[in-house]
Amino acid sequence: MSNWVYIENIAAFEGQEVTIKGWLYNRTDKGKLQFLLVRDGTGIIQCVASQKDLPPDVFAAAQSVTQESSLIVTGQVRADKRAPGGYELLLTGLQIVQLTQDYPITPKEHGIEFLMKHRHLWIRSARQHAILRIRAEVVKAIRDWLNSHGFVNVDTPILTPSSCEDTTTLFETDYFGEPAYLTQSGQLYNEATIGAFGRVYCFGPTFRAEKSKTRRHLTEFWMVEPEMAYVDLEGCMEIEEQFVSYIVQTVLANRAKELQTLERDTSKLEKVVPPFPRITYDEAVKLLQEKGFDFKWGDDFGAPHETAIGEHFDRPVFVHHYPTAIKAFYMEEDPTRPEVCLSVDLLASEGYGEIIGGGQRTASYELLERRIKEHNLPRQAYEWYLDLRRYGSVPHSGFGLGVERTVAWICGISHIRETIAFPRMLERIYP
Ligand code: 4AD
Ligand code: MG
Repeated sequence: MSNWVYIENIAAFEGQEVTIKGWLYNRTDKGKLQFLLVRDGTGIIQCVASQKDLPPDVFAAAQSVTQESSLIVTGQVRADKRAPGGYELLLTGLQIVQLTQDYPITPKEHGIEFLMKHRHLWIRSARQHAILRIRAEVVKAIRDWLNSHGFVNVDTPILTPSSCEDTTTLFETDYFGEPAYLTQSGQLYNEATIGAFGRVYCFGPTFRAEKSKTRRHLTEFWMVEPEMAYVDLEGCMEIEEQFVSYIVQTVLANRAKELQTLERDTSKLEKVVPPFPRITYDEAVKLLQEKGFDFKWGDDFGAPHETAIGEHFDRPVFVHHYPTAIKAFYMEEDPTRPEVCLSVDLLASEGYGEIIGGGQRTASYELLERRIKEHNLPRQAYEWYLDLRRYGSVPHSGFGLGVERTVAWICGISHIRETIAFPRMLERIYP
């Protein structure tokens, strides 16, 4: 069959005969007229099969084709405002590639357990398709912005000899008789590569053996981690707000159709432009107390606290200067107030909670050495990291943005399990 085209480009072929290769999304039987919704990965188009215009065998095929059968259709492209997408195909030919029997996901409602078990098929549905298409746009925007702002992509290892974040969430594996861990973050290696390249980023999967079953936690998630030499806490926040705004505005510009499929209120996303408000941890505590939370200085925020702080502002908000005691070992101390550190988290708007963690890193050899001891970390494994403070240490900062939480926020969906093709969670590793 000639002139194979993709549905996303269909407007350019109005009035012409084209071929589309895909799958049957749904069919409406009106007797002598069959309305086939065909999808090809780039979109969905309605194909109209009319008994009076078609050879009997072609019409019989249109009448019998089942949901999710693979098929190749040929027809004339016609503009029609009533058709989903604005165009339809007047069918002239139909070849069934494989006739599907008993597709498990039907247009009726299914429970989440059933859908998760059939994730390999569920991703074909319009809503899941829209979310994953937006994810791909987010990933592209991330790379485009960093690549065009002087950041060099230097990826970091997945198998590591030591921890970066909380040692209780390490996935341990056997490395030829030695324990090794799946990476929680590429940050420590980024701090090495800035010594060679100045501004870098790593981008890949990271792993946390999170025992918590929440809508914000996966055990395997993707993180992009920029790191910058000679940048302080304030400079770090300026980069973050430019970066996050670019990602959101790019999705708004390029994925309007998908956001519409998700019925996303885009007016909220349009507000995501710099500058973002900045508050200290101290101020955040006061805000929570004013809102009636029983929250003490020194505690870490849980999901309800992050939601309450985030909802107070119409765009993402930076919370900086957290207590040193609740943050990771590598955080720089505030020189005037060592009980707080130069850390910063970015909480998304609309109550979505933390999407970025980061801040300024310890530049001093002595302080870092003390911290490694205080956190009971095996010094030997961090010898190379201490080297970075021995040989040309500089003030430096960086951050990690979680892709799935960012996608959930932009899509306006309540659980991050739908933001990655095959989520890994407590109690889920299939399919
Ligand atoms: O705040 P986190 O733990 O920061 C770090 O790992 C730093 N070393 C990053 C850096 O400075 N280079 O994680 C960063 C982000 C969080 O804000 C969140 O978006 C995401 O990673 N994240 C998770 N996403 C899904 N599931 C989980 N279990 C996550 N844990 C963190
Ligand atoms: Mg964090």
